[in-house]
Amino acid sequence: MMTTRIIGTGSALPANIVTNDDLAKIMDTSDEWISSRTGIRERHLADDSETAAVLAAEAGRKAMENAGVSAEEIQMVLVATSSAENYFPSVGCQVHKMLGLHQAAAMDLSAACSGFLFVLNTAHAYIKSGLYERILVIGVDTLSRTIDWTDRSTCVLFGDGAGACVVQKDEEGIIGMSQHSDGSQSGVLTSFAPTQKTPLSEAMPGSPLYMEGQAVFKFAVKTVPDCISRLLEKEEMTADQVKYFVLHQANSRIIQSVAKRLKVSADKFPMNLDRCGNTSAASIPLLLDEMNRSGKLEKGDVLMLSGFGAGLTWGATLLRW
Ligand code: COA
Repeated sequence: MMTTRIIGTGSALPANIVTNDDLAKIMDTSDEWISSRTGIRERHLADDSETAAVLAAEAGRKAMENAGVSAEEIQMVLVATSSAENYFPSVGCQVHKMLGLHQAAAMDLSAACSGFLFVLNTAHAYIKSGLYERILVIGVDTLSRTIDWTDRSTCVLFGDGAGACVVQKDEEGIIGMSQHSDGSQSGVLTSFAPTQKTPLSEAMPGSPLYMEGQAVFKFAVKTVPDCISRLLEKEEMTADQVKYFVLHQANSRIIQSVAKRLKVSADKFPMNLDRCGNTSAASIPLLLDEMNRSGKLEKGDVLMLSGFGAGLTWGATLLRW
């Protein structure tokens, strides 16, 4: 039966690295507080030239090189982001221009930190339907531009970056997927864009990222293992058959708790959040690219990707490498 396979990966991180000690110089925090509560030690932060589109295009170009496919062979570019600098053109259309993807349709999708899983699953649906055979999927976020830098309980968590995969029709690859949303919990993680004055309403200044940290923590440690267990059950597989659980990199304590609830060794949960922080839609493909390039992945390995984020949204993708 035909499915969707990841055939190449790429990523891009801004040049500037900001350590916990650097943050402690500009706000009342410490490396001890941040690293013991989250596992994060440093993050990359974008400068003015490193827009979401620039990072997305670099990650996309590297994924295409890794896959050995040319611009003409890409039929669609799907970008997950919730921090693009402009409402339109989409990041997808900017990547289309930068990489010369003349044959591709391009669009963005917003599902916050679950965004990459949602674009991967959407690409899979397009491929399964027979509409397209080869798609570039990208997760990119520059949340540092949407954060309240006076709110020490949120601004220390996030980093900027992009990750990308080329996916194509194949006999092996995605085994199963699931994605979910619960709008009734939208208030625990929000960010509002500014608006202009209209004849009917006043201009709104917008408001930066707001998060109820403990509510998000409790949601994640219950929902992610449930989602993974159900997907394994549905596909009649067990956690033992999974080589790596590639989880959204928000907090090492969340990842350790998920491992414990699934009764799986924490060694099967690779992490790069110590160096990247929470890069939102970029976190899963960034980690996947790191694993791919360091030779950790062998053809046939079973991977479980899973993430959660604002919306609230969550999901998982079970695949054979
Ligand atoms: N440095 C030092 N102290 C800090 C701090 C910082 N950066 N941020 C908050 N604090 C203080 C608080 O003011 C509070 O002090 P008080 O006890 O004197 O009032 C104390 O630390 C504890 O704050 P609290 O918010 O209860 O901490 P916590 O143990 O819940 O950890 C998070 C906070 C954000 C690390 C944790 O809730 C978390 O990781 N949640 C999940 C967030 C997440 O994954 N988001 C991404 C979703 S995709």
